[in-house]
Amino acid sequence: MLMPSAIFLETSSPAGPPLLQVHDQDLTSLNTLGLRSRARALVRYSAAEQLPLLSELASHYDTAMVLGGGSNVVLAPQLDCLVVKVESRGIELVDESKDAWIIEAQAGEVWHDFVAHCVSQGWNGLENLALIPGTAGAAPVQNIGAYGVELDQRFHSLVAWDLHTGRLLEMGPDDCRFSYRNSFFKQSEPGRWLITALRLRLPKAWRPALDYPDLRQHPSLQEGAAAVTARRVFDAVCEVRRRKLPDPAVLGNAGSFFKNPVVDAAAFSALKAAHPDLVAYEQAGGRAYKLAAGWLIDRAGWKGRRLERVGVHDRQALVLVNHGGADAHDIQRLADAIKADIQARFGVALEQEPVQVR
Ligand code: EPU
Repeated sequence: MLMPSAIFLETSSPAGPPLLQVHDQDLTSLNTLGLRSRARALVRYSAAEQLPLLSELASHYDTAMVLGGGSNVVLAPQLDCLVVKVESRGIELVDESKDAWIIEAQAGEVWHDFVAHCVSQGWNGLENLALIPGTAGAAPVQNIGAYGVELDQRFHSLVAWDLHTGRLLEMGPDDCRFSYRNSFFKQSEPGRWLITALRLRLPKAWRPALDYPDLRQHPSLQEGAAAVTARRVFDAVCEVRRRKLPDPAVLGNAGSFFKNPVVDAAAFSALKAAHPDLVAYEQAGGRAYKLAAGWLIDRAGWKGRRLERVGVHDRQALVLVNHGGADAHDIQRLADAIKADIQARFGVALEQEPVQVR
């Protein structure tokens, strides 16, 4: 399963901050959905020197689970694995050519703070990805994206520790196999890979990415691309997200709960004929269409609905929320009901976006 082009790196000496194992750890505050969950044990990773010891520790468990900001997971009530909470920090300009900056973030950096730091340094290109919850190390796993930019467009390379073989690898874009909200890491065995550092390539020839309707129509971005700065795009993205998406600190959620489904041209035409206001984006030169799942769920009447402790957000139907005290079973029941309804009404299969951890 290893990628031919991945490069093995030498690991450093075993010294480093101690790895403290906490048994029977409550994870409720460590996942943004706020689902009630406990883990058999948790360790906090903060420095590369700890990696060999981490593999040794993980070998005593059936599986490990790597946890960043906990913003893209649905955690089962009881996890019988070793949870590795990634808390390594550091941002560095590691290389600069006349064309681009190469910026490296340690995996535990908070993604939004990293974006804000880059914009403040004049390293432009990440501003459309402002306010996405989670960590830098988790960003490539689901190939985060928003407002017309996806991580793979800015990706240079990453460093990952293979917990099974105890080896450190440098991986390029081909190794990572990015696609829409997907990557090699999302497809491989759970708990095998710990991404330790992310490197992005930010071209100096910057142009604002303003194609996405919410930005194109934004009142603060009407002066034309030449007058727009990265700071203004950053501020506009923050404003749109704060207006449309619930803050996990206030109302538990994991962002979009479903992917936008891709259907073929024939299925799209039939749906469009029945629902002229259907929102969809052309793909692959018109051979496929990506449907706005939020539109489908909204149209089916789910927006703002509540099922006991969980519900559908009242401003964005693609976001499921925890009204308090919910666990993975509550979320599963609601997600299953929505999926069945969308299949019955539109003949479209919805696919869950956050990773299910059992
Ligand atoms: N829509 C509705 N009702 C709703 C929600 C959306 O009719 O309740 C319609 C909107 O009017 C719009 C269309 O659906 O015409 C698309 O909605 P929106 O612009 O809010 O984006 P999205 O497709 O629902 C995706 C990403 C988001 C990302 C936004 C902006 C996925 C699964 N989600 O959502 O990512 O922030 O675009 O780029 O691709 C995430 O992944 O967690 C996430 C929040």
